[in-house]
Amino acid sequence: MKIAIVRERRRGELRVAASPDTVKKLTRLGAEVIVETGAGEGAAFPDEAFVEAGATIAEEEKAALEEADIVLKVQRPLAAAEGGPDELALMKPGAILIGLLAPYADHGAAEAYAERRLTAFALELMPRISRAQSMDALSSQSNLTGYQAVIDAAAVFGSVMPMMMTAAGTVPPARVLVLGAGVAGLQAIATARRLGAVVSAFDVRPAVKEEVESLGAVFIEVESAEAAETKGGYAREMSADYRRRQTERVHEMLKTQDIAICTALIPGRPAPVLITGAMVRDMKPGSVIVDLAVNEGGNCELSEPGKVVRKHGVTILGHENVPSRVATDASALYARNLLNFLTPFFDAETGEFKIDWEDEIVKQTLLTRDGAIVRPAPAGKGAPTGKGAPTGKGES
Ligand code: NAI
Repeated sequence: MKIAIVRERRRGELRVAASPDTVKKLTRLGAEVIVETGAGEGAAFPDEAFVEAGATIAEEEKAALEEADIVLKVQRPLAAAEGGPDELALMKPGAILIGLLAPYADHGAAEAYAERRLTAFALELMPRISRAQSMDALSSQSNLTGYQAVIDAAAVFGSVMPMMMTAAGTVPPARVLVLGAGVAGLQAIATARRLGAVVSAFDVRPAVKEEVESLGAVFIEVESAEAAETKGGYAREMSADYRRRQTERVHEMLKTQDIAICTALIPGRPAPVLITGAMVRDMKPGSVIVDLAVNEGGNCELSEPGKVVRKHGVTILGHENVPSRVATDASALYARNLLNFLTPFFDAETGEFKIDWEDEIVKQTLLTRDGAIVRPAPAGKGAPTGKGAPTGKGES
């Protein structure tokens, strides 16, 4: 099997879908790996490191893609209408495409994959079962996102994070509120705590209370009899009554905070608005909001995709692709997710490549096969509303 890794061409994307480590392992499995020259540059993986790991370098994207049986991508390939090279047209019919393909967004890509007869797997659809944990790209990327959000906030915050007792006086610790305590939120809590901040967190799923407290943060509770969690472990959209009570609680909390890190998402739906313009106005001057949900419409009404804005004296960060800001680690972990996804398809003894179409992980992540869309985006749920051009969870 020939596996191609090409340079990511979407704006602001520095990650790459393979690392020298995973190339070495893929070749050991029996695959032939072709890497487009410069593909790893943004992640600090030079061509030479890929060659040493057993890859061949292709001087052009076309040369890497036209031969490939499997194409590994971070973000979905560019189509003709998007400007730049028509990456889909460069892939051979029947090839397997694996990446963060933004399956919830309504961009018509699935139709294009089917037309090209690609077998496409969208990693966002990975089931949250223990066997799939090592392949869970949303988790590996969200974890780094949570970390980087705190680092980004600290960099623009005009005060320090820890309490400092100096001869000139005492500096109080920063107060950080984390909204949404999933994978990104929990890492944000841990990072803010390591920096010495006093941290509170809120989530609709009461199940995370213990995890939040074990990291040394205070869990903010909003009482509810509603089930907040789906069978898949994700959050549901809550009732209007719950949202009203939550809004009041968050509003009160924000008045005393220095930094708010927003991570709340609902798969396939617009992100819930948790911080309104009025709440921002009531925050302390010099406060910072990091809106990690900005691609899905935003948790903060005033955040703008791809921009750092100052509103009512509050700095609001709307970075669109936070994992790309730590591209080396993000690529290394993402590449591992892909390797773990592919490994079971290779026979350990013969090196033969065979997909078990009945496997739960294969069935859940499969988007298109044999010219047909296997898993269409849920009707009417694809396009998060709000600002910017949201493109679906996991994509920038
Ligand atoms: P996510 O990225 O979809 O959402 C982030 C967080 O926002 C979630 O904790 C969600 O409950 C919260 N949220 C949604 N609406 C909210 C609102 N209105 N107000 C406040 N918070 C809101 O979720 P993520 O981080 O991808 O995963 C959620 C959970 O799934 C994890 O905490 C974990 O328990 C579980 N999980 C299981 C895995 C496995 O078993 N393989 C792997 C990864 C996660």
